[in-house]
Amino acid sequence: MGRLVVVSNRVPAARDRQQPAGGLAVALRDALSEGQCLWFGWSGQQIPEEDKAEREVSIDKVDNVTYATIDLTHSEFDGFYQKYSNGILWPLCHYRAGLMSYTRADREVYLDVNQLFAEKLLPLLQPGDLIWIHDYHLFPLGQALRDLGVTSPIGFFLHIPFPPWSLMKALPGAERLMRNMHAYDVIGLQTEDDARNMNDGFSVCGVEARAQVFPIGIDPESFAEQARDGLEHAEVLRLQESLRGKPFIIGVDRLDYSKGLPERFKGYEAFLKRYPEHKGKVVYLQITPVSRGQVEEYRLLKEELDEAAGRINGMYGDFDWTPIRYLTKPVPRELLAGFYRLADAALVTPLRDGMNLVAKEYVAAQDGKDPGVLILSHFAGAAPEMEDALLVNPHDADEIADALHKALTMAQSERCDRWNRLQPDVWRVTAGSWARDFIGMLAAKVKRA
Ligand code: ADP
Ligand code: F6P
Repeated sequence: MGRLVVVSNRVPAARDRQQPAGGLAVALRDALSEGQCLWFGWSGQQIPEEDKAEREVSIDKVDNVTYATIDLTHSEFDGFYQKYSNGILWPLCHYRAGLMSYTRADREVYLDVNQLFAEKLLPLLQPGDLIWIHDYHLFPLGQALRDLGVTSPIGFFLHIPFPPWSLMKALPGAERLMRNMHAYDVIGLQTEDDARNMNDGFSVCGVEARAQVFPIGIDPESFAEQARDGLEHAEVLRLQESLRGKPFIIGVDRLDYSKGLPERFKGYEAFLKRYPEHKGKVVYLQITPVSRGQVEEYRLLKEELDEAAGRINGMYGDFDWTPIRYLTKPVPRELLAGFYRLADAALVTPLRDGMNLVAKEYVAAQDGKDPGVLILSHFAGAAPEMEDALLVNPHDADEIADALHKALTMAQSERCDRWNRLQPDVWRVTAGSWARDFIGMLAAKVKRA
């Protein structure tokens, strides 16, 4: 099999190449542990417009992976990443068309940056490469590469949901986006619903392409090991000591409106109101690092959450008890794994999510003899595979409250039964199996003439 060339907007920064954050980077890092790979994308750096002409691809090799990255100018970063990818495509694909703020100028920048990616990648390609493009930032990249004469197999995987065509067509230029997908030999999505929606779009637009389902996973063995070892870390011990045996609930999400955080806080508040026996006893730690902080909706969400956490703590807290411990900084993965292991329940309640790896990480981190309980939204892509979690509608605060009470009072035998039914799929559908299935399908494609 040829060399694997992965292309994504987000490539782990040099300092994080061992421990990236964000679903795509985590899954790919876990998946790319074999064979020679090139990983091409944005460096994470912005440069002034006047340095644009001189910019070059930076190359850095770590183990079997060569990282090739390019800088974006301030205006490319703004138009391509902040405005078009995260201000238009992201809300639309998460069924929030009302949050979309479209301009034709941003679309032009998006197309230009995709063209730039194609031109900078072209000289790095070798005969026999398999090219695998990731996510909504790069929908048109396959076609841009074909236009430059690339004949290698090219695959595309979308890490986020794909909405029904009746919604997607709200995007000006949606038909062209669909037609450009013809450039791909394999198109992968997370769930049956997403693939059906995209295939319906192909039918309506008369495009001969077919989306297939490749659910993503984690590296459960190594995560479980990190969780076990995590218990030795001084910080995890400090957390454990601070709990003083109190029931402990955890939430871990990027600060994003798709994650349903205000709704989750309302659910926790309803839980304290309706089940006052937990007041003064339970500890809820929400770790929510700021993400896309310059995009208006994300800035407003941060204000809303800061306010809600302060209000709930002010209203329900006591001089010796804080209802919500709320952090907006990232936590190293090995600590996160240890924190999950200590938690009696995890709240994973997105309003809409491609897959959600946190749900799988939480299951992998548990001690099977005394596991915690996963509370999971019906609208996470992981929900169909994880029906033995406590599934909730994240819009219903009382349902979250009931699930929290149920989780914290659940008999050990039921917790074990549920975990024993969740665990096999988390071990079976992994980052490695996801990548192998996709790449296997791509490798089987006959080279285009
Ligand atoms: P998304 O891709 O939308 O961010 P996922 O749940 O699929 O959502 O993936 C998030 C990944 O980022 C997980 O591997 C999770 O452990 C990691 N992550 C999320 N929040 C944090 C945090 N506060 N600190 C460190 N890692 C985090
Ligand atoms: O999984 C969806 C996704 O948008 C990835 O493409 C991305 O790397 C991750 O979430 C984190 O977002 P960002 O790259 O904008 O920080």
